Amino acid sequence: MDKKVVLITGCSSGIGLSLAVRLASDPDKTFKVYATMRNLSKKERLLESMKGLHRDTLDILQMDVTDRQSILDARDRIVEKRINILVCNAGVGLMGPLEVQSLNSMRHILEVNLLGTIQTIQAFLPKMKAQSQGRILVTGSTGGLHGLPFNEVYCASKFAVEGACESLAILLQHFNIHVSLIECGPVNTDFLVNLQKTELGDTSLQQVDTQTLRLYEKYLQHCRSVFQNAAQDTEDIVKVFLDAIQSPSPAFRYFTSTTGAPVTQLKVTEPDESYISAMSKIIFSTEEQ
Ligand SMILES: NC(=O)c1ccc[n+]([C@@H]2O[C@H](COP(=O)([O-])OP(=O)(O)OC[C@H]3O[C@@H](n4cnc5c(N)ncnc54)[C@H](OP(=O)(O)O)[C@@H]3O)[C@@H](O)[C@H]2O)c1
Repeated sequence: MDKKVVLITGCSSGIGLSLAVRLASDPDKTFKVYATMRNLSKKERLLESMKGLHRDTLDILQMDVTDRQSILDARDRIVEKRINILVCNAGVGLMGPLEVQSLNSMRHILEVNLLGTIQTIQAFLPKMKAQSQGRILVTGSTGGLHGLPFNEVYCASKFAVEGACESLAILLQHFNIHVSLIECGPVNTDFLVNLQKTELGDTSLQQVDTQTLRLYEKYLQHCRSVFQNAAQDTEDIVKVFLDAIQSPSPAFRYFTSTTGAPVTQLKVTEPDESYISAMSKIIFSTEEQ
């Protein structure tokens, strides 16, 4: 049987890397994986994880999702000239008081998370439509389902991804193409290291009022505690991707853990101030989570 051709963005670390390794080392050799990354000098980590095995099921390609030409070049290097599964995973975070964020930083987040996802899909869509089959999986975030203070632009980008995917999913079912969002809460990856974060000692914070600073400090504590106590490992996320990939009729949304769902539910059942107050209590309460 022909291998399923998979292209994944953002494979230099984290979820993308783990998914690429898992699919490329599938015992039945079901997949041919094109693991893409914007900077090929980072490919050693992926190669080390592969331990020199599965050379026939993995290719590494350069792809920067903010650079249309690099997306097209990667697409043109797919030997099979088809794609069965597209995984839009590349993403970056931005954390800090909104008033200190530069336009360039905000633009960059939207360019990677939102436009990067959209223009990657754009590049592969005509071929997938012509094939009348395919899967598009997008690494979503609970930050795309409910707001998080000090993450306004990140959440805006991930909310926007939800809207784009939902809109596409409705259309693409007419082409036998399934779109699925894999909604992740905190995951142990390089995300917090790669994140553009305003550190407490940054001079930019001198312009920020003391109450915001106090709340930012509390938020950072909350964030540390959440990542220490509740972060999932990439293997947990990969299992959910596999469920979606292997399902004959995949769901539109998959939640990687049950913790995010109650908050999202609250948003629907309590759409007024009480939802906002409940979120504030969860995030800013001084008790350890
Ligand atoms: N970790 C979490 O807690 C968490 C929670 C919810 C959702 N997510 C989502 O999960 C996805 C993967 O993140 P992760 O947790 O695995 O973090 P990660 O380890 O930082 O991985 C992010 C990947 O995206 C790549 N990337 C960044 N900008 C890019 C660009 N312009 N073009 C191509 N690739 C680019 C990074 O490449 P470089 O190495 O070159 O920077 C890296 O390979 C993201 O979409 C993120 O929003 C993560």
